[in-house]
Amino acid sequence: MVNYKDLGLVNTREMFKRAVNGGYAIPAFNFNTMEQMQAIVQAAVETKSPVIMQVSKGARNYANATILRYMAEGAVAYAKELGCEHPEIVLHLDHGDSFELCKDCIDMGFSSVMYDGSSLPYEENIRISRQVVEYAHKYDVTVECELGVLAGVEDEVASEVSHYTKPEEVIDFATRTGCDSLAISIGTSHGAYKFKPEQCTRDPKTGRLVPPPLAFDVLAEIEQKLPGFPIVLHGSSSVPQDEVDTINKYGGNLPDAVGIPEEQLRKAAKSAVCKINIDSDSRLAMTAAIRQYLAEHPDHFDPRQYLKPARENMKKMYIHKIVNVLGSDGKLAE
Ligand code: G3H
Ligand code: 13P
Ligand code: ZN
Repeated sequence: MVNYKDLGLVNTREMFKRAVNGGYAIPAFNFNTMEQMQAIVQAAVETKSPVIMQVSKGARNYANATILRYMAEGAVAYAKELGCEHPEIVLHLDHGDSFELCKDCIDMGFSSVMYDGSSLPYEENIRISRQVVEYAHKYDVTVECELGVLAGVEDEVASEVSHYTKPEEVIDFATRTGCDSLAISIGTSHGAYKFKPEQCTRDPKTGRLVPPPLAFDVLAEIEQKLPGFPIVLHGSSSVPQDEVDTINKYGGNLPDAVGIPEEQLRKAAKSAVCKINIDSDSRLAMTAAIRQYLAEHPDHFDPRQYLKPARENMKKMYIHKIVNVLGSDGKLAE
């Protein structure tokens, strides 16, 4: 049993309180590789931002759970080495799908876990969420739970039943689970294809797809039911079109990839949304830089040569999100 406090990590409680009161959101960036970890830490240190480094089940399978945990411990030491005396770094399990997985992460030093029971029947979601919360809170680990199914507008239109979080359920769910934060569904979704072209309009000047707005009315109702309660948005990559263009220019094939416009995320960050999850944008930034580098240097084969610009490009993207979208720069505890 390793307690995250001994690793220099923090849970989400205090940073969420400050974020909700201050009208900004904490970045939650997924990581699978050393270069992502380095870029996240460099960006957080340079902007003086708290940061959540999150690990999915897929990341654990790819990189090995123990290695990722040591990378997070290394991230704290690295942040200090870069000049940040008191970094605020959370190691978070993203989309934990069982009590056992959440427990395993808590036992190995994670400071926060998500139990995602959103696809389960309501009572079953509450039962397992509650079980995770009871275990986690013994070690002062914070827990994110999810209500509502993440799905695009298409599902809302096509389905008889709404997938959006039902505002009338949130008080009961938060009270009975005891969760510390709640992930909701208001129209975001995972990946680089969040909307079909037919769900969007086109900007006449650029020809780019313009996605439909998020369901801010649902968010407002949830906030009204749970004033000040930390709300989380998953699936919040914006799918930067310059990165998509670079990928396509250098041999990729991502037609009509589209994400959530940054102005909408900025608006959400000013509300009770205090954690915004971004993974796909990092993948795009990394892939774009690597494709371009290899196309321009066909004779190079040292991974350090192409991973360096990839790391730089991710760092630039992380800084942009922190400063221009989430507003968490300069928000380390006094
Ligand atoms: O929510 C999903 C995250 O983007 C993680 O994706 O399961 O492919 O690691 P992954
Ligand atoms: P994106 O695919 O939009 O980056 O979402 C990431 C996420 O929600 C991780 O949990
Ligand atoms: Zn997610």
